[in-house]
Amino acid sequence: MTILFINGSPRRHGNTVTLGERILQDCPHVTRHLADYQLNFEQDQRATHQPQRDLTDDYDRLMRTDFAGATDIVLGTPVYWYDMSGQLKVFMDRWFDSYSHDFPFAGKRLYLLIVGADQPATKAVGITTAVSQSCDWLKMSFQGTGVATADGPSDITALATLPSSCLALRQKILAVTK
Ligand SMILES: Cc1cc2nc3c(=O)[nH]c(=O)nc-3n(C[C@H](O)[C@H](O)[C@H](O)COP(=O)(O)O)c2cc1C
Repeated sequence: MTILFINGSPRRHGNTVTLGERILQDCPHVTRHLADYQLNFEQDQRATHQPQRDLTDDYDRLMRTDFAGATDIVLGTPVYWYDMSGQLKVFMDRWFDSYSHDFPFAGKRLYLLIVGADQPATKAVGITTAVSQSCDWLKMSFQGTGVATADGPSDITALATLPSSCLALRQKILAVTK
């Protein structure tokens, strides 16, 4: 198995990435920060004669180099205005390009991490709905959401124990790494 952790926060050392690294501790994985990639907005070419593809940015490289070979994808996002970060939304919008070119999404296991300051477990549930429904559509296997409350950039580091939803995801990942 190959685990890819995608950090959707612009903070490369913030709570989302710290949470992901704690959940994946001792599990071999690759971490990618969406902030390190130029990602253009999705262009809907369905009513045009243009290909449903944009090769002018880093999206295709990220998908080919890291996403395609991963069996397990951990998507992490901070809560921004009670939704996923713009970086993650733009990245997921672009999945339509990949879908249009028969990208091998099917069968990948996907785990979602959400970090927010204001009761994210109850106030940011729309993120889980969007990601799990997208997984269903792309025939990926949604494995659940780990949610943590944090705001200052070291808040997750300061937690003695991770929230139970995050520990449950870690157990799932450990089970498939055995
Ligand atoms: C632009 C912006 C919007 C935010 N909106 C919310 C929000 O709607 N709900 C919430 O719980 N936290 C919100 N936050 C707080 C972040 O989710 C929180 O600080 C989180 O820990 C940041 O994670 P990071 O360190 O990985 O970037 C917002 C932060 C920013 C910068």
